[in-house]
Amino acid sequence: MFPTHRPRRLRTDGVRPLVSETDLSASDLIAPVFVDATTDERVAIESMPGHERVPVAEAVDRVEEALATGVEAVMVFGIPESKDDAGSRAYADDGVVQRAVRDISAETDAYVITDVCLCEYTDHGHCGVLEEHAAEDPTLTVRNDETLDLLRNTATSHAEAGADMVAPSSMTDGMVGAIRQGLDDAGFAEVPIMSYAVKYESAFYGPFRDAADGAPAFGDRRHYQMDPANRREAIREAHLDVEEGADVLMVKPGLPYLDIVRDVREEFDLPVAAYNVSGEYAMLHAAADRGWLDLEETARESLLSMKRAGADLILTYFAEEIAESLSSDR
Ligand code: PBG
Ligand code: ZN
Repeated sequence: MFPTHRPRRLRTDGVRPLVSETDLSASDLIAPVFVDATTDERVAIESMPGHERVPVAEAVDRVEEALATGVEAVMVFGIPESKDDAGSRAYADDGVVQRAVRDISAETDAYVITDVCLCEYTDHGHCGVLEEHAAEDPTLTVRNDETLDLLRNTATSHAEAGADMVAPSSMTDGMVGAIRQGLDDAGFAEVPIMSYAVKYESAFYGPFRDAADGAPAFGDRRHYQMDPANRREAIREAHLDVEEGADVLMVKPGLPYLDIVRDVREEFDLPVAAYNVSGEYAMLHAAADRGWLDLEETARESLLSMKRAGADLILTYFAEEIAESLSSDR
């Protein structure tokens, strides 16, 4: 009667759902939304098929579209009307994100998260205020501590506009503590912080930088984002954010860093988020366009693998499609 153990017994259609260890649901997903102050019309994002930058006047419609698929949360990114060296449109009361969030929170039931960073708002495209002569000298980078004030102001202005949660992504040392203090002082002690705690300097962000017009004008971000070679450092980074008051810890990118998602899951009790980034989205689309992969199946498998690695929530450009297909499964 060999073999005694036959794992296939639990793989029939009837029993497989009963014994499955992980599942994906629409309530785990966060849909990124791009609001653009420079346009009156929707503009397709070429490198991210299906995604558009929408004018402020259509921010509510855009979010309603996401909600109609079963997604309940959005992450708002802004493209400002103008840029300067201090990213001042990031923390303006009438900035693009502030205006959009005011409308979205007044008119929809979405849970609204905002990305808190300066790279889309600075004329040099870096995530903070630069050292003098940084453009000529590649050893110079952003001024960490001066950037903290700007991030604090940005997060507070988002909360004032009605953001339910803020998500700092600049990899500035001390950003979570500075933002926590700013929120608390302004009366937003109940607004949680989802920190991009472990954010690698990754080539997978390429399509996003077109989408949000946030590519650095010179140099790169390796002075402040993490080296893809490092694993132990991820835990160190995350510990600092926990000490400073982070409520949710994010690992970014997702698929190439599933080992890190697992490490963070095992080290901390906090919810863990994975960011299935623009390049992960673009590569599946490109292959599917050629008929080499099935888009929906590979997208689902990618997201499921992030859940299996330990993520509780996932930011993904596939959110709407997958939410829709999950509801038609039922
Ligand atoms: C802003 C920010 C970036 C992403 C999210 N927030 C770009 C970057 O750091 O270069 C990347 C998202 C993606 O690629 O999907 N700092
Ligand atoms: Zn940035």
